[in-house]
Amino acid sequence: HNHIDNATPEKVHAAIAAGDTHAHVPDYETLDAYMAEGGYGALKDLRANGDWQEVQARIKESSLRGLGGAGFPSGTKWGFVRGNAGPRYLAVNGDEGEPGTFKDRYYLERVPHLFLEGMLIAAWAVEAERCYIYMRDEYPAVLNILAREIKALEAAGIVEAGYIDLRRGAGAYICGEESAMIESIEGKRGMPRHRPPYVAAVGIFGQPTLVHNVETLHWIARICREGPEVLNVTEKNGRKGLRSYSVSGRVAKPGVYLLPAGSTITDIIAEAGGMAEGHVFKAYQPGGPSSGLLPATMDDIPLDFDTLQPHGTFIGSAAVVVLSDQDRARDAALNMLRFFEDESCGQCTPCRVGCEKAVKLMQADSWDQGLLGELCTAMTDASICGLGQAAPNPIKLVMQHFPDEV
Ligand code: NAI
Ligand code: SF4
Repeated sequence: HNHIDNATPEKVHAAIAAGDTHAHVPDYETLDAYMAEGGYGALKDLRANGDWQEVQARIKESSLRGLGGAGFPSGTKWGFVRGNAGPRYLAVNGDEGEPGTFKDRYYLERVPHLFLEGMLIAAWAVEAERCYIYMRDEYPAVLNILAREIKALEAAGIVEAGYIDLRRGAGAYICGEESAMIESIEGKRGMPRHRPPYVAAVGIFGQPTLVHNVETLHWIARICREGPEVLNVTEKNGRKGLRSYSVSGRVAKPGVYLLPAGSTITDIIAEAGGMAEGHVFKAYQPGGPSSGLLPATMDDIPLDFDTLQPHGTFIGSAAVVVLSDQDRARDAALNMLRFFEDESCGQCTPCRVGCEKAVKLMQADSWDQGLLGELCTAMTDASICGLGQAAPNPIKLVMQHFPDEV
């Protein structure tokens, strides 16, 4: 496994105290260092005489699935986009806004060129006219690194000037929803579109668009360099591959942990140094607030795509937050719903009004579970996008697993 230290708060504070008001930029692998290790060799070979379908077959063989959280098979997506007439675009979803998720930031702050090479390979595969990187503004160090390294790629002649367009998000969680992100890239207010049509057919400026998450592209570069085995040889609890779990909450060593995809919460807490001193494991969020909360008794489920559906939840972006005996599940759920209330784009009534109403109902000493249940159904059934559809999950799971608290 890898335990990954993020830029520590001490380092950031020291940088700010020293007058660096922008961001503490950690040491990372520069273009020269990356190329010295053979970096961009795969891209050059593919551009010279590669067959995109062979690469697609390798991606499929690796079982790579979209690591933004939805787990859609990555190779299949290339086929959808290529199947539509150009011009085509590639958009990177770097709006890592899911509370508790920080794995993309980790990779970008250390090995940005694996991501950039993966992006250029995917762009080559779908013959993208241009690449847009939509990066959240709350990651100033990452924006700094990418601006610098994109210039270095242009200077080295690996991309033409302007081919990679680095865009700053403005702090709206909903702009991580791919169609809202595209609206934002087009210069409009970020609001999700109805699907279908999917962005693979109608994306940026109405053109077919390949949307990938940062970490997905990181693995595409690694698969091209190291082969599909890099992901598919590891097996645990019947699950293949690796997952980058962002682990926070009441653990001794929060951080990003690259572990087998079949890892359970017990394995993850052990990797994170056990529980923080004085805390007893009580509950966990398996994959972002929209995945809700599970009790500590459900500690033997492999945390991977598809394994949590029977329990009414999902792994999403693998944002694991651990709660202890010093936390109340109902408070955590209320906090999640307040977040959704704040971040709802307001476009559709079930989500805009539903989140607000849920927050009010959840503040009562004793929850009106019948009414909350009806509200959850309306929100799930009638909201336009995933935010409103999944926002009731924390409510449903807390009523199911922590009845004494509500
Ligand atoms: P989705 O399953 O609807 O779509 C996933 C991807 O597959 C999209 O790119 C979509 O365009 C594509 N797709 C699906 N069906 C298709 C079809 N028939 N034809 C062509 N393309 C198709 O999921 P969605 O709404 O994009 O993502 C939801 C996930 O996002 C959640 O599971 C959540 O965990 C995650 N999420 C992650 C965040 C983060 O910060 N990483 C923030 C918020 C949510
Ligand atoms: Fe906007 Fe919520 Fe409707 Fe999604 S579900 S479109 S976030 S109002």
